[in-house]
Amino acid sequence: MTDSLTVRDNRTGSEYDVPITDGTIKAADLGKIRTDDETPGLAVYDPGFVNTASCRSAVTYIDGDKGILEYRGYPIEQLAEGSSFLEVAYLLVHGALPTKAEYDAWVHEITYHTFVHENVKTFMEGFRYDAHPMGMLMASVGALSTFYPEAADIKDADNRHMQIVRMIAKMPTLGAWSFRNAQGKPFVYPDNELSYTANFLSMLFKMSEQRYEPDERLVKALDVLFILHADHEQNCSTNAVRSVGSSQVDPYSAVAAGVGALYGPLHGGANEAVLRSLKRIGSKENIPAFIQGVKDGNERLMGFGHRVYKNYDPRARIIKKAAEDVFDVTGTNPLLDIALELEKIALEDEYFVSRKLYPNVDFYSGLIYEAFQFPPEMFTVLFAIGRTPGWLAQWLELVQDKEQKIARPKQIYTGDRQLTFTPASERWA
Ligand code: CMC
Repeated sequence: MTDSLTVRDNRTGSEYDVPITDGTIKAADLGKIRTDDETPGLAVYDPGFVNTASCRSAVTYIDGDKGILEYRGYPIEQLAEGSSFLEVAYLLVHGALPTKAEYDAWVHEITYHTFVHENVKTFMEGFRYDAHPMGMLMASVGALSTFYPEAADIKDADNRHMQIVRMIAKMPTLGAWSFRNAQGKPFVYPDNELSYTANFLSMLFKMSEQRYEPDERLVKALDVLFILHADHEQNCSTNAVRSVGSSQVDPYSAVAAGVGALYGPLHGGANEAVLRSLKRIGSKENIPAFIQGVKDGNERLMGFGHRVYKNYDPRARIIKKAAEDVFDVTGTNPLLDIALELEKIALEDEYFVSRKLYPNVDFYSGLIYEAFQFPPEMFTVLFAIGRTPGWLAQWLELVQDKEQKIARPKQIYTGDRQLTFTPASERWA
């Protein structure tokens, strides 16, 4: 067996041997296929990059058919069960689990960079009372590049490390403050005595008490949610980070682009839609009519189905367990009964079974976030905080990858050509 593809161009009768490596062919090799020296070579048309590998990556492995998700080779189930978000962040960024000394140093670094310059606070206070927290987060992450101009030196490894630490450390501060702004409440400074996730809850919910002491079960559940969102290989926002990062801009600007991509409803917003559907269904009796509407094509069952996972989304199972833990503390969310019944009916229904539609990560996450009393606009901010180590690990890989170039896709031009311009004074006369 030869690892190559023989392509016969029926326009010219020429044959080409295109090497196959890692199950892919190089698009540039297709560019050698041309009818004559004047016309451009053959290109690939792939809107949405549904069948195009944009990079080599050793960060995250997904097998959608088998329902496998691994960070640096470790199954997500094991990490969610036995690790912490900061350890997972270390794993993603450094490529291996830390020793005790490395972990302690990493936690120390992250903890002592949670504060932001006072001018960042002033900047964030400038937003209107009803500013969407994701818009605030995107702007303030981008603004950090002006506070750390040395971040532009992306070739220096120590410098890159510094910015990665700062960003992972400051995301909860910026996220919490964007929430407090919408609530009209004073911003709470980080408490370096608390863990990463407990400190985030403190900055969100602390009022006049000396120290905010969150329930450890809630801290653990939120930490698990951050782990589940920490990376998902070349998704829309990661692709945005890589694409913007390929211009060799500083990492704050690249991650701000990732936050922007995540802001969109097709990416970070599905859990909010699940919650809306559950509220609309209102009670278990209304489920059959709702399911019928989905089967008739009137709407989708949000939180079900996935582009990659065609067996089950491994994150959904873990999140269901986290939901139970949270509801033990907060009391159950009445919508949970509807969600459970909906899931049960859907998993037995031929329509969903035959299309391989299973609950995805978003089916239960909205219910958990609501139990924490987060407004729906905050759901995507939580996703962004969790995804930050993944974005940075991918950015780090990008800037050290010798094969990478500035992202610059081709197009198929469909507009006019060679028109003759007439000045406005003549056209409007
Ligand atoms: N409810 C009802 N029918 C569905 C659903 C759904 N949630 N998802 C897919 N289908 C049907 C679809 O109508 C189509 O049926 P048919 O073959 O008869 O036309 C078939 O299943 C295949 O669907 P598709 O749209 O071709 O699948 P896709 O891979 O392009 O879409 C998806 C994946 C996630 C966009 C889609 O399943 C969906 O819209 N789900 C609801 C939204 C959602 O929960 N999104 C969160 C994704 S997880 C977050 C993340 O990982 O970033």
